[in-house]
Amino acid sequence: MKNMAIEAQGLIKVFGNNRAVDGVNLNIPTGSICGVLGPNGAGKTTTINILATLSKPDAGSARIFGYDVLKETQKVRQLIGLTGQYATIDESLTAMENLTIFGRLHGYSRKDSKRKSIELLEEFDLMEAANKALSQFSGGMRRRLDLAASLLSSPPLIFLDEPTTGLDPRTRTQMWMTIRSLVKNGSTVLLTTQYLDEADQLADNIVVIDRGKVVANDTPSGLKKSIGASSLQVTVKNPDDVLEATQIIENILGEHVLITEVADLTVPMKSTDKLIDILTAAKNAGIILTEINVRQPSLDEVFFALTGNVDN
Ligand SMILES: Nc1ncnc2c1ncn2[C@@H]1O[C@H](COP(=O)(O)OP(=O)(O)OP(=O)(O)O)[C@@H](O)[C@H]1O
Ligand SMILES: [Mg+2]
Repeated sequence: MKNMAIEAQGLIKVFGNNRAVDGVNLNIPTGSICGVLGPNGAGKTTTINILATLSKPDAGSARIFGYDVLKETQKVRQLIGLTGQYATIDESLTAMENLTIFGRLHGYSRKDSKRKSIELLEEFDLMEAANKALSQFSGGMRRRLDLAASLLSSPPLIFLDEPTTGLDPRTRTQMWMTIRSLVKNGSTVLLTTQYLDEADQLADNIVVIDRGKVVANDTPSGLKKSIGASSLQVTVKNPDDVLEATQIIENILGEHVLITEVADLTVPMKSTDKLIDILTAAKNAGIILTEINVRQPSLDEVFFALTGNVDN
């Protein structure tokens, strides 16, 4: 298998006068999970549609495992699985019927298709609902079935467009486990998500798209580092020492300390150089610190810093 699952250069897609995708470059190594983040309308789904051969770019090129998405469409389609933002399976059929039909479409024999469908229904906790029509499925059940359908052919590259939107926390965690095990078994995953913690948990690399452009492409921790400031959190053992501890820290860092709990202090810290000074000064003043944490900014903070969006 080629060592690059996705290589895209200068992808552009224009709808009317809206540059939905505006020069996107992507390089995703085989066997990794890439998380694509971005506010609503950023161009995530449009980019996936181009990579999955569902939509033609107005400019640029993309290869999937070396195959050109425009010139070798059939080859590319054999290598990918796509789970859409919206499930698109026949409503009147049961879950079992849907999956076995998908299996047949992928060239499995009747028997193999049934066996594989049962395996997937079990994996996604849908056995009890196997003989229910889709019209009776909840949103979460649909999403799981949709993912199960896209896994029928064990594709080496899987596009998951918001696989966990609207799932309850337990089902979400289950989905994460499934995604991890897919990658362990050699698949490459590109997923879009509205949940920053999800990208943090799953992705080897995060691509942030805003208004059709890639505005960041890094590891989760690289992204957090890129916006700089960490924060220092300390807990003072004796609440009577809180004011003095606050003064010591403010003097050394020149930043305002926030008292978050009775004896918990939080302060932004540009670099860890001053940490030792704080510890020494506290010790000299006879102040005992029971907990000391230097925390990176959260991905939410990174996201807002990059896209300037507060509410999506
Ligand atoms: N078929 C289409 N015709 C016209 N405009 C479209 C079409 N598909 C998408 N767009 C526009 O392109 C832009 C990007 O849409 P896209 O669906 O790729 O965003 P997204 O990042 O997936 O957003 P979301 O987080 O809401 O799923 C939006 O402005 C959208 O309105
Ligand atoms: Mg979308």
